[in-house]
Amino acid sequence: MSLRVLSEEPPGSVGSTLLEIERVTKRYGARIAVDDVSLNVSAGECLGLLGPNGAGKSTLLAAASGIVRPDAGSIRIGTWDIWKRPREAKRLIGFVPQDVALYPTLTARENLAFWGALAGIGDARALCKRMDEVLELVGLEERDRDRVRNFSGGMKRRLNIAASLLHEPSLLFLDEPTVGIDPQSRRHILDTVRNLVRDKGLTVVYTSHYMEEVEDLCTRVAIIDQGKVLVVGTLDEVKNIAGEHETVELEVQGDAEAARTLLATHPAVLAVAESGGKADAAETLLVLRVERADHAIPQILAALISQLGGRVTLRTLRVRRPDLETAFLALTGRTLRV
Ligand SMILES: Nc1ncnc2c1ncn2[C@@H]1O[C@H](COP(=O)(O)OP(=O)(O)O)[C@@H](O)[C@H]1O
Ligand SMILES: [Mg+2]
Repeated sequence: MSLRVLSEEPPGSVGSTLLEIERVTKRYGARIAVDDVSLNVSAGECLGLLGPNGAGKSTLLAAASGIVRPDAGSIRIGTWDIWKRPREAKRLIGFVPQDVALYPTLTARENLAFWGALAGIGDARALCKRMDEVLELVGLEERDRDRVRNFSGGMKRRLNIAASLLHEPSLLFLDEPTVGIDPQSRRHILDTVRNLVRDKGLTVVYTSHYMEEVEDLCTRVAIIDQGKVLVVGTLDEVKNIAGEHETVELEVQGDAEAARTLLATHPAVLAVAESGGKADAAETLLVLRVERADHAIPQILAALISQLGGRVTLRTLRVRRPDLETAFLALTGRTLRV
């Protein structure tokens, strides 16, 4: 599979804009799922779309794939507007939805044959060859005659990825492909995506709420929250968005609310993030933004001991280097983890 150079574009497509999302808005009733989003994706890059649950990632991908019609804005794939020339535009896209779309009673190969027919691959021999290729890409070549109902969640996701590649798209949308699957399949999917970008020249938009995956795979990242793209840039640019500030994470047991209140007003602490700690967990995670961790930590510990000694126990203390999580924190005041 090679990068398809679009017919009506000048040659030398690597680096040219393959996906252009311009001022797209999508509402569901009173709720704005995607709020005036503009985003460009260049040929050959892997763009990470990082945001918590409900941020609008799936809606944005569904709009860009021509599945959900936006209320405003335009989407161009290559030279084609997805709503004006859907057939041409969709030929360039592979879409792997969050929910697995497979027939459990059919074998892996039969499922692919079905998707291949839908994608318009009429020639039986070409389809057969292409099925072999995509099964090998996702590491399911040995399991092609097994029924999908006997597959693990991770294997089903991998088969979904295979199906999305049958028609040799130039641009692949992956919607949280590793959620809820075993670690081995997760590793496999990440490796597959990396290889597709590096060796096959595929352009990828990868949505996730796992910052490690985006850091691992992507060259550029867009952080999305509450329907808005808050920032887009290279990994390094976005990681350093918090500037000189550092992040200190404390896991405490006992009266965590008292600790939070104390730290929120402490002069060495710039902000305490809202973190999505589980209500029933024994430990509470407190995420603090500070000017300098080496100065702040002794003061924070002294305050906790002198004012809350006996009521709060510190279990762990970590200083975070600038990463996508600290960037999200700086932008939203909340942690990504939910
Ligand atoms: N079909 C729908 N009907 C109503 N609300 C929806 C629908 N799809 C998504 N939403 C809402 O739009 C927002 C964005 O959802 P979604 O795009 O699924 O976010 P993400 O994929 O980042 O988790 C959420 O508040 C969600 O509840
Ligand atoms: Mg989603």
